[in-house]
Amino acid sequence: MNHSSIPSAVPADACNAAKIAERIRGIEQGLINNTLAVLVVEATSRCNLTCSFCGMHSKSLSTTDNSKNRKMTPPKMHIDLDLFKETVKKCQGIGKLKVLYLHGNGEPLLNPDIVKMVDIAKKADIAEQIILVTNGVLLSKQVFMDLVVAGITSIRVSLDIISPKKFREVKGADFAEIVLTNIDACINLMRSDHLPVTLTVLCADPKSEDKEIVEETLKIQEYFEEKINDMANVIIQYRKLFNWVDSIKRITDGGPYRRPVPCEQPFYLLMVHADGDVSMCCADAMKELIVGNIQQSDSIKSILMSSGLKARQRNLLKMNYNGILACECCEVYSIVDKSLFEKREELLKLLLI
Ligand SMILES: C[S@@+](CC[C@H](N)C(=O)[O-])C[C@H]1O[C@@H](n2cnc3c(N)ncnc32)[C@H](O)[C@@H]1O
Ligand code: SF4
Repeated sequence: MNHSSIPSAVPADACNAAKIAERIRGIEQGLINNTLAVLVVEATSRCNLTCSFCGMHSKSLSTTDNSKNRKMTPPKMHIDLDLFKETVKKCQGIGKLKVLYLHGNGEPLLNPDIVKMVDIAKKADIAEQIILVTNGVLLSKQVFMDLVVAGITSIRVSLDIISPKKFREVKGADFAEIVLTNIDACINLMRSDHLPVTLTVLCADPKSEDKEIVEETLKIQEYFEEKINDMANVIIQYRKLFNWVDSIKRITDGGPYRRPVPCEQPFYLLMVHADGDVSMCCADAMKELIVGNIQQSDSIKSILMSSGLKARQRNLLKMNYNGILACECCEVYSIVDKSLFEKREELLKLLLI
């Protein structure tokens, strides 16, 4: 079976140290040259599920938050194809992206133009990889094939739950069997046609404290084990499911949590929302981290060079959250965050240039 874990022959610490050093070098180079490593373009902010852990579509998110006056329901829309083309054009001058992601806070396959978007990005050659994360409900064989032909590099399906009853409970609809059938059909196609794409099945971390979720992960492993053990390009990947819904509620209720080190994301990534607003975080569902708008900016480079973005980056390095709950209450950590914070004096100098 293929896992995304660190190869056992390489000591985890050595492997992480090299990875962290490389990522920090990349961030420094990006700040010096005003280049960007990752761009997320939100194909749509609509969704056909209501996952209980989702910071945008969970049914338990209240629509208003009077205590902090946050917009709890940003507009739900598909990105316009012309706006997507404009975004691709405005990528000039920021170097070749390492990754272009075509999902945001919604289900990208709901956008009828999604295949055209992959095609446009591929032809413009703006990214080394084009990746799409989907809940898999609409991932028919035809859609999968069309995406591959258009040039998608990798498709990640957030399966998480395999038991129909639990799927309904957590994801809000009876689609467990449809998603599994779709994944199986894609795997069969990859096996018969040797397609140049990676398919990743996402599930929860088996070390999670939620026993029922761990049980689902084990069932997913068991279900796929035999089917994919000879396929290098089908991967089961684990990730922590963060309780964004509760952390948003906790902090708006005046809870004590304050993130101890800033996040690395605003230093290498931008996200274009479906309406053209640009955030410095890919989970900015409540739009607290807007640093520009595609239509109002000459280019993405001008957003990267803007005093607004640089001031926000400086504030983060100084741990001034300035009441921005998206940063202050975020519990998503990467292996790089702490080391980046330790280099804050050097990074602050780069941000003054
Ligand atoms: C916001 S979704 C958008 C794409 C698509 N709708 C999906 O669910 O795959 C992108 C990824 O974020 C994950 N995600 C959503 N809420 C999360 C949370 N609270 N913790 C960790 N990952 C989460 C989803 O499971 C998915 O893998
Ligand atoms: S499918 Fe994706 S966008 Fe939709 S509710 Fe679930 S996590 Fe959120």
